[in-house]
Amino acid sequence: MNFGKKILCIGAGYVGGPTMAVIALKCPQYKVTVVDINEDKIRQWNSDQLPIYEPGLDGIVKKARGLNLFFSTDIKGCIKDADIIFVSVNTPTKTFGLGAGMAPDLQYWEKTAREILESSEGSKIIVEKSTLPVKTAQAMEGILKTNENDSCFEVVCNPEFLAEGTAIQDLLEPDRVLIGSHQTDSGLKAAEEIVKIYANWVPKEKIITTNLWSSELSKLVANAFLAQRISSINSISALCEKTEADISEISFAIGSDRRIGSKFLNASVGFGGSCFKKDILNLVYIAESYGLDEVAEYWEMVVKINEYQQERFVARIVNAMFNTAVDKKIAIFGFAFKANTGDTRESPAKYIVKKLLEEKAILSITDPQALTNARMDLAGMDGQIAFEADPYKAANEASAIVLITEWDEFKRLDYDMIYKKMRKPALIFDGRNILDHQTLFSLGFDVYPIGKPSLTHSH
Ligand code: UDX
Ligand code: UDX
Repeated sequence: MNFGKKILCIGAGYVGGPTMAVIALKCPQYKVTVVDINEDKIRQWNSDQLPIYEPGLDGIVKKARGLNLFFSTDIKGCIKDADIIFVSVNTPTKTFGLGAGMAPDLQYWEKTAREILESSEGSKIIVEKSTLPVKTAQAMEGILKTNENDSCFEVVCNPEFLAEGTAIQDLLEPDRVLIGSHQTDSGLKAAEEIVKIYANWVPKEKIITTNLWSSELSKLVANAFLAQRISSINSISALCEKTEADISEISFAIGSDRRIGSKFLNASVGFGGSCFKKDILNLVYIAESYGLDEVAEYWEMVVKINEYQQERFVARIVNAMFNTAVDKKIAIFGFAFKANTGDTRESPAKYIVKKLLEEKAILSITDPQALTNARMDLAGMDGQIAFEADPYKAANEASAIVLITEWDEFKRLDYDMIYKKMRKPALIFDGRNILDHQTLFSLGFDVYPIGKPSLTHSH
């Protein structure tokens, strides 16, 4: 088949894979190829067992693969062939040197820029898809301008706003698509090329074009604002636990104000996931590097409150267990950073488990999807940990249940049966406020929700 433009995506991860699958589905006139240095991942993308699970993804890949969607390891050849190159390689937080623990590690990013330069002929549009510090395009242009042949590049920024578990829905019906470019003739022309892709299925008024730096910064700010809402409500949950106010009632009351809105106001053990902490620290680092210390401190508090929430949660557990968890069995309900995913990156479960092991508790961890990752995350950790697919077995003979992930499965369990097989007093800590606390209390449990008075029989 003769295609119009050829699109390439470098990086077949959580972002690159689903995004390109949807573009291929909606734009049959484009040839879409995804490459990755990880050959095994590409093999999986070409098989029936895709490397990531997202509802709806399988069907879309099956429809488009081999028609206009291709997965390949021929990075050089594909770069040469492409008109438009999306870059979606990972940009983890630096673990060494200047900015360690704060700034993003851009080594893969720079390596990719050099690879593009080496293998390119003619003119190409480079699209930043990975989340990057504002002004990264300048660095990329710095590399791309060192070319010695006739190739020329225009860098455009098109950040991704998809959340895990709803990635396909977010791609099919986005709130908005953001495209940033230089406000020059060639920059605007390049942006228009990217608008043309999305206009195949996204209403024009939802496609926002901005200057390059606004687009880069908007992505960080969007995640910072979302995380900030969670830290705000979590900070108030601490106050609720002291005053007999109820955080769920407060979330509902304030969320009914349309100016505030009701989303992202669920108090929890804290936010996790690969993006929030990384992006906020990235924002903090940028602010600091421009000498904007107050701005940096303001956003850093969002991360600090998130850590405080997790510390508070553990302290409450130990405190309620008469200040000792030594040799007590505790069932951990959920290890994923949120429900409907097996992803455990930055999951609060890791911190909570580590702290409870330090208290010498005996842990039994259950999760419908995340046990494989949990095993890897906790490998080599000192202490007694069991992994148990069956939550009833995990809770058998336990002194306490600690619920960390808001899986629906946990709502549907027979807590009467669970209670009968636990040691007494049987404690339950609901880190997501998803259980029916009053019913649990009447079954005999001592119940400790987040941001609500505890319901206890003894004290
Ligand atoms: C990535 C970035 O981490 C994130 O900052 C951004 O918001 C979107 O893109 P994600 O897709 O979740 O997010 O990352 P990941 O699933 O780790 O995928 C990145 C892929 O890039 C990996 O498959 C990796 O093998 C590949 N890669 C990395 C390359 O192909 N070339 C490289 O040089 C480095
Ligand atoms: C997030 C952003 O939503 C997405 O737009 C961006 O592209 C990537 O980062 P994701 O990390 O997949 O997506 O998950 P999200 O649903 O945003 O949840 C993040 C964390 O916040 C989870 O740990 C979740 O449990 C927690 N959360 C969310 C709360 O604690 N309370 C809430 O009210 C909402």
